[in-house]
Amino acid sequence: MSSKRESVHGMWSSRAVFIMATVGSAVGLGNIWKFPYITGEYGGGAFVLVYLLCVALIGVPIMMAELLLGRRGRSSPISTMTRLAREEGSSPAWSLVGYSGVVAGFLILSFYSVIAGWALAYVFQAASGGLNGVSAEGSAKLFADLVGSPPRLLVWHTVFIVMTVAVVARGVRDGLERAVTILMPALFVMLLIMVGYAYLEGDFVRALDFLFDVNFAKVFEICTGSAEQLQCQFSGEPVLVAMGHAFFTLSLGMGAIMAYGAYVPDRASITGATITIAVADTVVALLAGMAIFPIVFASGLEPSAGPGLIFQTLPIAFGNMPGGQWFGTIFFILLVFAAWSSSISLVEPAVAWLVDSRGWRRGTAAAVVGMLAWTLGIGSVLSFNVWSGEDYQLFGRTIFDLKDFLASNVMLPLGGLMIALFVGYGAGRHMALDELAIRRQQLFDAWWLVIRFVSPVGIGIVFLNSIGVF
Ligand code: TRP
Repeated sequence: MSSKRESVHGMWSSRAVFIMATVGSAVGLGNIWKFPYITGEYGGGAFVLVYLLCVALIGVPIMMAELLLGRRGRSSPISTMTRLAREEGSSPAWSLVGYSGVVAGFLILSFYSVIAGWALAYVFQAASGGLNGVSAEGSAKLFADLVGSPPRLLVWHTVFIVMTVAVVARGVRDGLERAVTILMPALFVMLLIMVGYAYLEGDFVRALDFLFDVNFAKVFEICTGSAEQLQCQFSGEPVLVAMGHAFFTLSLGMGAIMAYGAYVPDRASITGATITIAVADTVVALLAGMAIFPIVFASGLEPSAGPGLIFQTLPIAFGNMPGGQWFGTIFFILLVFAAWSSSISLVEPAVAWLVDSRGWRRGTAAAVVGMLAWTLGIGSVLSFNVWSGEDYQLFGRTIFDLKDFLASNVMLPLGGLMIALFVGYGAGRHMALDELAIRRQQLFDAWWLVIRFVSPVGIGIVFLNSIGVF
């Protein structure tokens, strides 16, 4: 049986609400904005395959581990790790997992919010008819005008941070629970409509080819230059990015899922919930790819356009389809909501910790955390304009890219590795057995094998490869 501890932060009202909220955390800009753009940059099918493998072999088992730790500790990730390490007689250093998660949360929110700000700006673009009849060049110019203007980006970044703080200050249960249950299914339907449009008007066959035709040579290759003069080089980077994205898209490795796990009812099945969440997240990402790439190819755009990809392609579809002004407005509103229900989980671990260990009021904690993330976010705003030049780059990356790389490809996988090691070795087998309560022994044994060996070794290999060890 699971422990009888109570969370001081409250509990989800039901198992269904917990799943909705966690899907809300997982499904976000990662699926609709980031997945298509990095798939475009890393060349398609091979990258998608590696990503799917990482979700199945590393993401799913680690999500189960985070949820079981969360429910066992019933506290903020820092307090949970401290408490469980003590109970299980392991080193107090395990609490570092919680601290590094809080830092990763800040880093991610500080660029996530800027991209969510783009989505907010596009809600108004679309609603005011600004996208009507837009051409591929026109759409590229609209985007360039937006990201070229620090004041506009700053305003929307501020609005989004305030939205996030407002929800977290109230506690996750009021408001968001309800909003998410309606908006997530609506987003799904909108995506289906977009895929339908892309099927009718775009180059669907070429898109499917791009997404699913696996060319293994590309798994370890990075290519630069134009189509005629492609230069390809052996590199583990695509695999590192695919693995990092598996963590990012499932909200793993920083304690967000652990924090949500702390509010899960005692009897809910962690395995069942994890599979539902992972499947929903993956389906949304693939649908986003199938909505976007047909338009990319039909409009002669480059799949490797980078972070602006969906903001340059989807407006072309909205601008030229019947009722596009409405569809466009609704789509971007839903995108904002998807980002919103994710961003709250980025700050929840820090806020919960300030509340349960430092005795802060939730509202104060949320405001302070929001202010810090806002300040860090200024760097992301400027990396698209004033600081976009090479003089301001480090290792060929802007501040925005660096933050994303450090958080997604380094901190999240390392956090995930530590979580797997704590569950598999730091704590006893009895803890996992108790919390997961899997009836079929073989199933539990399989998971146990994966969490102790397969996931840690997988993460280790990808890491060592990416820093050039082999
Ligand atoms: N998973 C979200 C997305 O795909 C982003 C996110 C929310 C996240 N919480 C997180 C990423 C925690 C890493 C860690 O958009």
